[in-house]
Amino acid sequence: MKITIVGTGYVGLVTGTCFAEIGHEVLCVDNDTSKIEMLRRFEMPIYEKDLPELVKKNVHEKRLQFSTCIEEGNRFSEVIFVAVGTPPGYKGEANMSYVENVGRRVAETMDSYRLLVEKSTVPINTGEQLKRTISKYLSSDIDFDIASNPEFLREGTAIEDALNPDRIVVGIESVRAAELLRKIYAPIIERSGCEFLEMNIASAELTKHASNSFLAMKISFINAVSRICELAGADIQQVAHGMGLDKRISPNFLNAGVGYGGSCFPKDVDAFVHIADQYGYSFELLKEVQRINQSQREHFMQKLQRELWVTQDKTIAILGLAFKPGTDDIRQAPSLYFVPQLLEAKAKLKLWDPIAKAKFDEIHPTLNYYDTPIECATDADIVLILTDWPEIKSMDLDRLKSVMKCPAIIDGRNLFDPKEMKNKKISYYSIGRTH
Ligand code: UDX
Repeated sequence: MKITIVGTGYVGLVTGTCFAEIGHEVLCVDNDTSKIEMLRRFEMPIYEKDLPELVKKNVHEKRLQFSTCIEEGNRFSEVIFVAVGTPPGYKGEANMSYVENVGRRVAETMDSYRLLVEKSTVPINTGEQLKRTISKYLSSDIDFDIASNPEFLREGTAIEDALNPDRIVVGIESVRAAELLRKIYAPIIERSGCEFLEMNIASAELTKHASNSFLAMKISFINAVSRICELAGADIQQVAHGMGLDKRISPNFLNAGVGYGGSCFPKDVDAFVHIADQYGYSFELLKEVQRINQSQREHFMQKLQRELWVTQDKTIAILGLAFKPGTDDIRQAPSLYFVPQLLEAKAKLKLWDPIAKAKFDEIHPTLNYYDTPIECATDADIVLILTDWPEIKSMDLDRLKSVMKCPAIIDGRNLFDPKEMKNKKISYYSIGRTH
């Protein structure tokens, strides 16, 4: 089938490439000329494992192409996926101007049936709003459909998630739209055996918000329990293990840490709280999820202050700048929370990250970046671990101890065994474990 994808961000580019990989003919459109030029040179605007190879392969096999022209996208296919950004506004509400703009421009140049599929995470009434916008700007009485098809992929495992999803959710209003989407997804359903769930548009939109918020809630729950563990002399990893073996709970998303970050959870929880407010429901549970996430960062900072006493002129090595391993994404990363505060406190910072360094350097160009965790920790008064990169977990601890000014670690990801640290005489503080 021919498919147009508008927006070549994380979701759009991965979805388009994966649709090409399963045999469709895909045109990815973006109004950012430099991004499209990069893609045509096989330079990726995002870091994602296996994506460059997959883009190259599908372009060479003539199933994937790029354009800056939305009208071309409109002519290319009767199915148009909308994967443009919905950045948060001042009060956490999603900015819908990019989505509205796509709807308007498609309507203005539409000459036969089109199915517009929302792929971005959007507020619950977006389907309705898009329908009104298209009807308003259509020049003649042309049939069209709106559908919602939320994306659940994670950064770092995006290709695998897109090709082998747990489920495919589609919100539809007509048999024609359902059939088109089922046909598009048939190869993925066949290879992954996942369920194809048809529901109304509002339910599909809500499924995405509820899923992301539920996962964020799971993280805040375990982080709250970790605080009690610290007070009660319990161990959060043992507690999480004990909870996770209950199939109803599952062990996933029960890792306590410095709080969730990234481009989705903070923004999506915020948006869901805002949507609920608009419908007249005050989602106190999710507001508490947000508060716990914030307090987890503040609590980590207190651990550092307790250990250092005075931060000024101390050399602090920060290991991990990305919001999670496997990505160069630093949006809402813990590093972006701690670095400005430590600079303000006049600490001397040394930074390490295998991939996110370049992105961080754009924001903090005057800071010192190192090639390995050990180089970064050399002469440091303390090491902060903010991302669970495997390179940190596999550090030679004896070597680390020998290069540091005083061997001390505050671990925001619980990568090490406190007993081992005690044996090695390294001061070690982590999350939800007594030492
Ligand atoms: C998330 C959702 O998982 C995905 O379905 C959705 O489409 C987009 O948002 P992503 O932001 O890529 O994906 O990352 P994810 O792996 O979910 O992690 C989000 C944050 O939670 C990270 O900061 C991570 O460190 C943190 N996290 C995750 C924890 O602190 N503990 C956990 O147990 C799991």
